[in-house]
Amino acid sequence: MVKLMKVLLVGGGGRENAIGEALVRDGAELYVVSKHRNPGLARLAKGYGMARETDVEKVLELALEWGIELAFIGPEAPLERGIVDLLEENGIPAVGPSREAAQLETDKAFARSLMEEYEIPGRKLFRVFEDVSEMCSWIDDFGRPVVVKPLGLTGGKGVKVVGYQLRDNEEAKAYAEELIRKDGKVLIEERTDGVEFTLQVFTDGKRVIPMPLAQDYPHAYEGDEGPITGGMGSYSCPNHLLPFVPREDYEKALKTLKATVEAMRKNGTPYKGILYGQFMLSREGPVIIEYNARFGDPEAMNVLPLLKTGLLDIAEGIVDGSLGKAEFEKKATVVKYLAPRGYPLSPVKGVTVEVDEKAIEDSGAKLYYASIDEDFTLLGSRAVAVVGVADTLEEAEGIAESAIPYIKGELFYRRDIGRRESVEKRIMMMKGLGKEFEPNSC
Ligand code: GLY
Repeated sequence: MVKLMKVLLVGGGGRENAIGEALVRDGAELYVVSKHRNPGLARLAKGYGMARETDVEKVLELALEWGIELAFIGPEAPLERGIVDLLEENGIPAVGPSREAAQLETDKAFARSLMEEYEIPGRKLFRVFEDVSEMCSWIDDFGRPVVVKPLGLTGGKGVKVVGYQLRDNEEAKAYAEELIRKDGKVLIEERTDGVEFTLQVFTDGKRVIPMPLAQDYPHAYEGDEGPITGGMGSYSCPNHLLPFVPREDYEKALKTLKATVEAMRKNGTPYKGILYGQFMLSREGPVIIEYNARFGDPEAMNVLPLLKTGLLDIAEGIVDGSLGKAEFEKKATVVKYLAPRGYPLSPVKGVTVEVDEKAIEDSGAKLYYASIDEDFTLLGSRAVAVVGVADTLEEAEGIAESAIPYIKGELFYRRDIGRRESVEKRIMMMKGLGKEFEPNSC
């Protein structure tokens, strides 16, 4: 029997378009609050409220007005504002962690200390400093390359790594000093060399259900060049692994996320919702780079189209502590985002783009809207995503690529996402680090 439940979705990006689609597919009556009218969500929603996602009082007001029975929180910023706590205090169960539990993403020192205290595998050496001279002497004594991170949310822009955004540990000290002067504190970590991958899980605070692995492409330009963005696209494989992630390393990464959920329970800060592990696969195994307290964007668009289990069922299991199974089709996916020219540093805004939705549908690609208004005006961030789903990576990439010509305007995208050469490059990077493995097929 088809359920009809009033579900509130907070957020209006590509990730939320995919979440909204999956909820409606499972019978939800959808209500959305976001700061712009996403054309994809506007079509799916029965009600649409325009408000900043961080204006949690306004979100609550709309939720009560609409008689919402369940809420799904897309982005991290409202989690930091305690949106889940507020909704639940008012009788609306919500998929997402409490403000305290969201600290796994919103306070990097909290996350690292938790890993240390509960001896979670995949942790790395870190220190938090408030004093500039202590920080400088520690980095000097440490001697190896470091990573400098602000403690709070920075929209992916604050982390700097020696050898990438920072030339050497001297530049790291200067940047860390800047952060201490601005924020009062800074996190310094050892640098881990390897290749990054994403593992996302559903959890009700006890049970942890993994989703297929995905690989994000954070750099703006082809060949992994240019500034870091929210992610220009991503791919996943039919066996739910990645070519350069052997099964035993996948198991280790899953163990890390299971241990994290268990630690959060023991810590008195139980975690429910989606937990996203950004891992670096090093020669020794997977190491946590960051936790996120929500789906990845674009990675949500890899996994949600593959869900065989209803997302509404999963959401209900998350909020009432009875999470069951979550099954995914054994297919490859490739997501390609089109972003405004100049993104992320000086994006074109306010111009319109043309999207031939019928031709995209005929191409077999899925289409998700993000930072674009209902009148197709670019708002300055990643605007439209196309997704290919197929039996092989090559076919999925071809489907995504075939949809691109039907989106016209001042946009750019990365052709290399999910292509064989870029996958090979990651395999070679792992081999170059001395890791012996047989690449998985994709
Ligand atoms: N794709 C990275 C993120 O969602 O944070």
